[in-house]
Amino acid sequence: MKILGIETSCDETAAAVVEGVAIDRKVVILSQAVASSQEFHQKTGGIVPEVAARKQIEVLLPVLSEALNGIDPQYIDAIAVTIGPGLSGSLLVGVETAKVLALVWGKPLLAVNHLAAHLYANWIGVKSKSEARNSKQFRNLKSQNTNTKIPEFPALGLVVSGGHTDLVLMHSHKDIEQLGSTRDDAAGEAFDKIARMLGLAYPGGPAIAAAAEKFELPSKGATPKVGQAGRRNSKFEISLPRPMIDSEDYDYSFSGLKTAVMRQLSNRKLSGQLVQAIAQEAQEAICEVLATKLMRAVDEFRPKSVLVAGGVAANRRLRQRLKFEIRNSKFEVALFIPPIALCTDNAAYVAASAFYRFSPTPWIRVAIDPGLTITS
Ligand code: KG4
Ligand code: ZN
Repeated sequence: MKILGIETSCDETAAAVVEGVAIDRKVVILSQAVASSQEFHQKTGGIVPEVAARKQIEVLLPVLSEALNGIDPQYIDAIAVTIGPGLSGSLLVGVETAKVLALVWGKPLLAVNHLAAHLYANWIGVKSKSEARNSKQFRNLKSQNTNTKIPEFPALGLVVSGGHTDLVLMHSHKDIEQLGSTRDDAAGEAFDKIARMLGLAYPGGPAIAAAAEKFELPSKGATPKVGQAGRRNSKFEISLPRPMIDSEDYDYSFSGLKTAVMRQLSNRKLSGQLVQAIAQEAQEAICEVLATKLMRAVDEFRPKSVLVAGGVAANRRLRQRLKFEIRNSKFEVALFIPPIALCTDNAAYVAASAFYRFSPTPWIRVAIDPGLTITS
C-alpha cells in the first residue's frame, strides 16, 4: 500500500510517499520533500503563526509536486494528513489540500495525530543518514530494508518536540496510554528559549548543541561521562537544576531552567565562553531529566522497546546518553531512535503512522484539531 503523507502543522511543509507491505515490517520511503520557513522566524526569535501559515500556502504545491515526481496518482492508495496539534493557520493549509486530493482522486483520507506520528519515524526503514538526507536514494530502499528490526509492544515512547514532551506506553498501534507530560515548557521549548537568552539563533536546539560542543572538556576531544561534565578548562562553573527529576510521576517541568539561566546571566557579561558553559549545562540538565525518567519507566513497565522521537531526539548528547543507559539497563530492551533527518518534522512518519493505524475518515468529517493530545 502506498500512502501520500502531508505535514503542515508548524513551520515545516512536507510531503512524502511511503510504501508498507505488512504490519510486521517497516515501511519504506519512496519519495519525500521538506521545505522550512525557519529562516523567516529567525529575526523574531520564534514562530509568528501568520508568517508560518502564509509560507505553508506558498510552498505546499511545489513540495507536493516534488514528492509526487514520477509517481502516478493512480498508484497512491490513500492520503494521510496531520490534523493537529499545531498552529491553526498552518494545519488548515495541509488539511484542506489533502481533502481536495482525496475528493478529486477518490482516495481514502486518514487524519493523523502529529505527536503519535512522530513515534512512527521508528517504523521507517532507512539505511543511513546520507540516505535520509537524499530523497532520490529512497527510491531503491524497498528490497533492502523491510526486514530490519521492528519495534515490539509494549513499547515505551518518549516524544520530545518543540511544543510537547510526552511519555507514553504503547500497548498496540491503536492503544496508547499517557504516562506523563510537561506541566509547562516542553524540552524543545526550553532549548529554544534558553538559546534566545544566550543570543543564539532560532531554532535553539541545534544552536545550543553546537555551542555545547565547543565547551572545553578536560582534555581535547574527550567525551564527558554520563552525568559528569568536563569543566576544568572553562572559566565558568555553571550549575543548573534538574527540575522534577526525583518526582514520583512521569511529568516534566522545564520552565524553571529558563529562570535559573536568567539568574546566571544577571551581573555577567555575555561572552563566548559563558554561552558555551551555559549551553553545555542546560543541555546536560534537559538530557539528564529525560533519561532518568525514561529509565525509571523502563524499570516499572518493562517494555520490549523504547522509542524516542521528535525534534529534540536529534540531539547528539541525548542520543548518546540514552544509548548508554539502555545498554546498562538491568532489563533487556531495544532502543529505537530515528536517523536525525527523521526526528524533525517530515511527512514520511505521518504516512507511516497512517499505515499502521489505518482508519480512514470521510473527507467531509476531517477537520483541524490544534489542541489534539497524543492519546486523542
Ligand atoms: O518535532 P519538531 O521538529 O517540531 C515540533 O513538532 O515541534 O521539534 C522542533 C524542536 C525545536 O524546539 C528545536 O529546537 C528542537 O526540536 N531541536 C533540537 C535539535 N534539533 C531540533 N533540540 C536539541 N538538539 C537538537 N539537535
Ligand atoms: Zn513535530
